Amino acid sequence: MSGLSFHNVAKRFGSVSVIENLNLDIHDHELMVLVGPSGCGKSTALRMIAGLEDVSDGTISIGGRVVNDLAPKDRDIAMVFQSYALYPHMTVRENLEFGLRMRKVPADERARRVASAAEILGMSQLLERKPKDLSGGQRQRVAVGRAIVRQPAVFLFDEPLSNLDAKLRVQTRAEITKLQATLGTTSVYVTHDQVEAMTMGHRITVMRDGKIQQVGTPREVYEKPANAFVAQFIGTPPMNLIPATVIGDSLQTSSFALPLSTKVRGRGVEGQRVIVGIRPEHLHQDSSDRAPIRAAVDVVEPIGHETIVYASTGAERLVAIFDPGATPRAGETIAMSVDAEALHLFDAETQESLR
Ligand SMILES: Nc1ncnc2c1ncn2[C@@H]1O[C@H](COP(=O)(O)OP(=O)(O)OP(=O)(O)O)[C@@H](O)[C@H]1O
Ligand SMILES: [Mg+2]
Repeated sequence: MSGLSFHNVAKRFGSVSVIENLNLDIHDHELMVLVGPSGCGKSTALRMIAGLEDVSDGTISIGGRVVNDLAPKDRDIAMVFQSYALYPHMTVRENLEFGLRMRKVPADERARRVASAAEILGMSQLLERKPKDLSGGQRQRVAVGRAIVRQPAVFLFDEPLSNLDAKLRVQTRAEITKLQATLGTTSVYVTHDQVEAMTMGHRITVMRDGKIQQVGTPREVYEKPANAFVAQFIGTPPMNLIPATVIGDSLQTSSFALPLSTKVRGRGVEGQRVIVGIRPEHLHQDSSDRAPIRAAVDVVEPIGHETIVYASTGAERLVAIFDPGATPRAGETIAMSVDAEALHLFDAETQESLR
């Protein structure tokens, strides 16, 4: 049993409040991703779990036991950082073994665990090398290995892939996902990268300014964002957010009107000021007379499997994802329609989703 929970946790540095009243339950065996913009308190939350920062208020529990007053070494956690933090003068084997030696694990048990971790990570042939003779990806794998040999109740990852190039990042991301699934160790993974969050997390916690905005599976967070911030933070290119007013059966923006489907109608009241959310994949080129949006194409990005189109209509700038076959040219005026059922509505004042 090694779930993890925050109960009314607050963190202040002097008079500056960084985290307010954080409540979160992370299940046993779960990979929970904490995601949010720079400075929102992700690392601070993780460091409080590890015991590297004090908790100003509230409690943190691991496996049902409050750990607030436990020293980091007694918390049964292992942490992987962005900077691999390997000992440069030690071989890979010695780096992997070091924490176990400190804990007085017997030599044969140490050798067994190191061999097993090296096997899992596919680096058995690298054990006698020094860190300087490894690639960045291999170094990060040693750092992960060092966490594995500890056999902790919880893994903590703080942006472990940030130092890797794009291709290696994608590969290592899949490796960590697979590793976590194999070992089943409860894990908290911090990133500012929403693609990492979506691809790795069993659930995602979206944070902003030290407060949780939404907790849910990647799908829930993508399909039912709790507010305009989450809607725009999760998904690339981001969701289009356009101010509008509910008038009769339509949503009137400054430059076009969208039909309100029966599904969406009823969420907003007549005259209400709202924000309409449109995912880029829900905008389509449409040459029929009924197409509600006319926009001038600004930039076209053909990516291969899809084409991203930036266009403007009056005051609004829109981004759309088209099929690679239907590629307009910059400067052209195109007509677009929207999947009416797929619209999101947010209150203009509170920014909360109207459900
Ligand atoms: N020791 C400290 N003293 C004062 N303020 C701090 C301290 N450590 C962090 N902060 C502040 O707390 C806030 C949250 O920092 P934190 O490192 O948790 O952010 P983060 O979400 O991990 O951001 P990033 O994505 O940039 O790593 C920031 O505004 C930061 O300046
Ligand atoms: Mg951080």
